[in-house]
Amino acid sequence: MKEWNRREVIAAASALGMLPAGALGMEKRMLSKPIPADGEQLPVIGLGTYSVFDVESTPADIGKRRKIVESLVESGGSVIDTSPMYNRSEKVIGDVIDAGVDRKDLFLATKVWTDGRAAGAAQMQRSADLMNTEVIDLMQVHNLRDTARHMKTIRDWQDEGRIRYNGLTHYTASAYAALMGEMKTHKPQFIQINYSLGELEAEDRVLPMAKDMGIAVLINRPFQSGRLFGKVKGHSLPEWATDYADSWGQFFLKFIISHPAVTCVIPATSKAHHMIDNLGAGFSPLPNAAMRKRMTAFFANL
Ligand SMILES: NC(=O)c1ccc[n+]([C@@H]2O[C@H](COP(=O)([O-])OP(=O)(O)OC[C@H]3O[C@@H](n4cnc5c(N)ncnc54)[C@H](OP(=O)(O)O)[C@@H]3O)[C@@H](O)[C@H]2O)c1
Repeated sequence: MKEWNRREVIAAASALGMLPAGALGMEKRMLSKPIPADGEQLPVIGLGTYSVFDVESTPADIGKRRKIVESLVESGGSVIDTSPMYNRSEKVIGDVIDAGVDRKDLFLATKVWTDGRAAGAAQMQRSADLMNTEVIDLMQVHNLRDTARHMKTIRDWQDEGRIRYNGLTHYTASAYAALMGEMKTHKPQFIQINYSLGELEAEDRVLPMAKDMGIAVLINRPFQSGRLFGKVKGHSLPEWATDYADSWGQFFLKFIISHPAVTCVIPATSKAHHMIDNLGAGFSPLPNAAMRKRMTAFFANL
């Protein structure tokens, strides 16, 4: 006898008129996790902008990015991550807000990436101006550059209500030792690091440390900048994974957000249909510890 997976059960129920059309993609609200600093809930799927939002402010290009952001918001997501290092991306976010996306629906995370107090403050102000916002939700020190100086400015701005949360970011395991040192010194409210089925090193020390210290964790490079899709090219999703995921993108993202220390993942995309696919990972069920082991072993053996 055939065992039915979640998707098949919902699709069959929908076909019989037992569920509203489209129920497949909107069974419930997107999952969220609390920011340990104050308990505010953050939806688990966000959006990265590196390279994919670095475009001219033409109506066609802004229209495409607006669709991506609207999909994010319609599914209950809110987090958008950017940086002054990503060239035109901050401005494009501002343009998308100008074009009609409600700023209040977004959790805007950017970074400071320069040396010196005055240059850091000027860059943070420029980010706010470009993104068309008075308050930046999360300001992160990019790649630990001049951390102590910028954390002081960020905290001052938090006291003035111009920034809501502070954080530190990096994108490679070779920086974890330095990152953990800065976590001990500065006790940030967020860290942002790389973690994926292709890069598991964060599991050893950084993620447990963030959990112990009550630090929220954003995950960058969830697809290893797209490389994970190359690894599974020509392979179908294994049958045992179809209860959790309808695509490889969802398989990769659900692995990440099911880690207990992870708060939100920020996959980058230039395509609305990829955004919709990625958002599909933000819904129950999530893999348990045994399933996560199975996913890891499967991927390692490809
Ligand atoms: N703090 C740091 O130092 C740091 C470093 C790196 C990244 N980040 C942040 O993390 C974000 C994510 O990392 P990333 O940009 O390196 O890459 P990523 O999210 O790991 O991968 C993005 C790539 O995956 C493709 N993709 C996305 N969704 C897909 C789907 N459902 N199916 C098939 N392909 C899909 C995208 O192509 P399409 O455009 O075709 O969808 C793009 O080429 C960045 O944008 C940035 O915000 C931070």
